[in-house]
Amino acid sequence: MTTLRLIEMKREGKKIAMLTSYDYTTAQITDQAGMDVILVGDSASNVMAGNWTTLPMSVDQMIYHAKSVVRATKRALVVCDMPFGSYQVNEGEAVANAIRIMKETHCDALKLEGGVEILPAVKKILDAGIPVCGHLGLTPQAINKFGTYAVRAREEAEAQKLVSDAKALEEVGCFAVVLEKVPAKLAAQVAQDLKIPVIGIGAGGGCDGQVLVIDDMLGKTQGFSPKFLRRYADLNRIMTDAIGRYIEDVKSCDFPNEKEQY
Ligand code: KIV
Repeated sequence: MTTLRLIEMKREGKKIAMLTSYDYTTAQITDQAGMDVILVGDSASNVMAGNWTTLPMSVDQMIYHAKSVVRATKRALVVCDMPFGSYQVNEGEAVANAIRIMKETHCDALKLEGGVEILPAVKKILDAGIPVCGHLGLTPQAINKFGTYAVRAREEAEAQKLVSDAKALEEVGCFAVVLEKVPAKLAAQVAQDLKIPVIGIGAGGGCDGQVLVIDDMLGKTQGFSPKFLRRYADLNRIMTDAIGRYIEDVKSCDFPNEKEQY
């Protein structure tokens, strides 16, 4: 899978499937299942580390997760999030961090949150030959500015800014844009306006592809059920049951049995 192939898929009207992964075994399963794009999201901060926001994630931590995912992946395009603080200071720091992530992880592309404000950094990273995916709408690294995880761009001014940000990201050379938690009509309009794929999360069926956080769609996470989330499994229940049975078997001396020892 390549960034070019994703753009072709949009042209051919083929939807793009994207899902997060943060570790080797999960990425291996995700890749073997036929995923187009694996996102090493900074949502690792929430689902792997138990933080309230994505802000604490460091470049070193993203590199650790991305390396594990890349080692497991044979087919999918691996996109790694640039964490909060790694691209906002200046273009020089942004490109230095981007090059470091690419060199150390061997991932295929990077994702950055924001529009025109971060365009100089995006341009510099693209100039270094690194593919960039944009991310607009509800950008979790700006949660303290928003003050809420509610749907973004419902108001005309914010919707217009989102449309022009998306166009600017396409014009500068991004290969895709993620739109998070925005009205479906607006996302569909952006997807129609752009030649590059628009990947939605809580942005409706008019997008060129969809992305979800794997722990959410597998039902591992608790207490998080936004309207856009479809749960494809109840791993929380399955794991709790399996772990409970293991505890019972150890305590009752049922495990290990004769066949399970040397
Ligand atoms: O970090 C992440 O998982 C993401 C997706 C929610 C798009 O950015």
